[in-house]
Amino acid sequence: MAMETHLRVVFFLVNVVVLGVSGAGGETAVGDPGMRRDGLRVAFEAWNFCNEVGQEAPGMGSPRAADCFDLSSKNKHRRRKHAVLKSSFLKHQVSEADNKLGVGQPFPGLAPGAINNTDLYAMQKELYLGSLCQVEDTPNPWQFWMVMLKNGNYDTTSGLCPRNGKKAPPFSPGRFPCFGKGCMNQPMLYHQQTKLSDGGIMRGSFNGTYDLGSDIGSGLDGISFYEVVWEKTVSNGSWVFSHKLKTSKKYPWLMLYLRADATTGFSGGYHYDTRGMLKILPESPNFKVKVTLDVKQGGGPKSQFYLIDIGSCWKNNGAPCDGDVLTDITRYSEMIINPETPAWCSPTNLGNCPPYHVTPNNTKIYRNDTANFPYGAYHYYCAPENAQFLEKPVSTCDPYSNPQAQELVQLLPHPIWADYGYPTKQGDGWVGDARTWELDVGGLASRLYFYQDPGTPPARRIWRSIDMGTEIFVSDKDEVAEWTISDFDVTFT
Ligand SMILES: *[C@@H]1O[C@H](CO)[C@@H](O)[C@H](O)[C@H]1NC(C)=O
Ligand SMILES: *[C@@H]1O[C@H](CO)[C@@H](O)[C@H](O)[C@H]1NC(C)=O
Ligand SMILES: *[C@@H]1O[C@H](CO)[C@@H](O)[C@H](O)[C@H]1NC(C)=O
Ligand SMILES: *[C@@H]1O[C@H](CO)[C@@H](O)[C@H](O)[C@H]1NC(C)=O
Ligand SMILES: *[C@@H]1O[C@H](CO)[C@@H](O)[C@H](O)[C@H]1NC(C)=O
Repeated sequence: MAMETHLRVVFFLVNVVVLGVSGAGGETAVGDPGMRRDGLRVAFEAWNFCNEVGQEAPGMGSPRAADCFDLSSKNKHRRRKHAVLKSSFLKHQVSEADNKLGVGQPFPGLAPGAINNTDLYAMQKELYLGSLCQVEDTPNPWQFWMVMLKNGNYDTTSGLCPRNGKKAPPFSPGRFPCFGKGCMNQPMLYHQQTKLSDGGIMRGSFNGTYDLGSDIGSGLDGISFYEVVWEKTVSNGSWVFSHKLKTSKKYPWLMLYLRADATTGFSGGYHYDTRGMLKILPESPNFKVKVTLDVKQGGGPKSQFYLIDIGSCWKNNGAPCDGDVLTDITRYSEMIINPETPAWCSPTNLGNCPPYHVTPNNTKIYRNDTANFPYGAYHYYCAPENAQFLEKPVSTCDPYSNPQAQELVQLLPHPIWADYGYPTKQGDGWVGDARTWELDVGGLASRLYFYQDPGTPPARRIWRSIDMGTEIFVSDKDEVAEWTISDFDVTFT
């Protein structure tokens, strides 16, 4: 094991020398700054409504998979680039047998008690795939970018999802989409392992559908679809991740994100130990996110496209989370760039606004200050349902769609975000406006309102997940979103 790791490191160093791939430069929080490393690390995870597995899809194994490889050379001593390219090959670290592992099947390191539990098994499989993909680095090793797919169907008669982390009885359908028994199924997953082709192009993909038994090869009419294709030219530029997400009548609420998650501990929305790309966890206010986003197709009026979504976890008393779902609270903030997304926060709907806004010069503006509060900058604020000292009026967040209670601060493009490099007007960053963003995420997130019990020391705002992608939030017709992401980095300021 140790020997193999050593060999891999040697191979990578050889590539650095021969091909001139730039290694880690300035201060970055991610393992692969700018997505420029030829040896890619990417993984896949699918979640049901409450961020668990529930039931595996037949023949698909547990919904965790990975594509991790190093670019190796058969001829280590040639220095001419084209000669090196000719003798290069991808040395894969994850086999298709690993990717197909499903509940009941043992693998190295599998914790006792997890083998027959689909939820625990998936979380353990992620750790196992992480061990295969791990790259040694300072100050910490890292594992992979994470493609996250989630189905928003909830069968309320199943009693499967807890309410604010507490086991809850089944209730009558109507509140959430569900076509009937089995609506919370895991998807079909097809994997094209990354290949190196002539001209030094590396390309691979994950795709599939939630519609079990359907054939995506004969057209996508009426069925759901997701796809992420990654492509890069050897020793030049960034990986480009091309995403596609399609809803259907049976699956009207779908989410597809590319995530940089914590490499250990919990990540946003996930109450299990995780693997990821953030070798240092960024803490507000001193970090920036750089990313190139090209939205090709928006996904309709319900597509809540997140230019950036940050996720973390702390308790209502400001203490860090410890895995106790009854008191841990997931905190999310996201900038929604679909210009069709309205501000639900308004002078006549104060309950959808945070209690106050903080300006870049740290002035607090209360939401009842109708002359000054930037209502148009907030799509929706909702508080954790189990918070005890909420300022009324207030909207509380959906208590079922996370393993624990959650809080959401959803932003819209607005001139007040200009100081942070965020979109300032509707349409910024949207279809036809591809850009490389340099967002002062740390600065902005340090001034957002998040609930805390009165008199408790402020939580450290350490962000465990940084995601991009879309949540098509219950579409009434089949919608398609398409976008590419590249150049992603998190740097300290
Ligand atoms: C897991 O399930 C299999 C098949 O149902 C059974 O044979 C095995 O004993 C179970 N293992 C554990 C640890 O429960
Ligand atoms: C899905 O990916 C497979 C390769 O794994 C590819 O052959 C197929 O064309 C893709 N399907 C669609 C509809 O893009
Ligand atoms: C690298 O990529 C850029 C555009 O992405 C292109 O203009 C340039 O020619 C490429 N360089 C090489 C050496 O292939
Ligand atoms: C802070 O900013 C607000 C609006 O952005 C402005 O009205 C106010 O004068 C500023 N206060 C200080 C002390 O600079
Ligand atoms: C506005 O809200 C703040 C904070 O809740 C409160 O102290 C203040 O009295 C309110 N002002 C008015 C005019 O209602």
